[in-house]
Amino acid sequence: MIIALASDHGGYELKEKIKEHLKEKDSSIELLDFGTDSTASVDYPIYGKACAEAVAKKDADLGIVCCGTGIGISIAANKVKGIRCGLCTSVEMATLTKQHNNANMIALGGRTTSPELACDIVDAWLDSEFMGMHHTKRIEMLDNM
Ligand code: RB5
Repeated sequence: MIIALASDHGGYELKEKIKEHLKEKDSSIELLDFGTDSTASVDYPIYGKACAEAVAKKDADLGIVCCGTGIGISIAANKVKGIRCGLCTSVEMATLTKQHNNANMIALGGRTTSPELACDIVDAWLDSEFMGMHHTKRIEMLDNM
């Protein structure tokens, strides 16, 4: 599995933590890092777009984006056609955004979510499965917007 990651400065440290966590969790996961590479101030739309386009083009299977709150970078990612990026602040939201929305990306906040919780959120999202059924039609509706 290939996972794309990106962040702005507000999510940089969390992105690095998540990368470490994913390497430890499963060495077969390939990581594509679209930056940023430091805590120097940058514009989150650039990074959210780059990561989302990699997922939309199927260069990556899934994507994880981080900014200060996760809000701005999730808005950026969701502007790319085919992307369903769920902003997650709890394990329950991570599970449900895979089960119901089949989220192909999640967003996390480096200033609002602890690294420990963020790693639990990533695990819950990766380990959950889309439920299908009536949710399929709703996802098709999203993809056709
Ligand atoms: C950057 O200061 C901050 O605005 C950004 O990381 C993010 O929280 C935006 O939604």
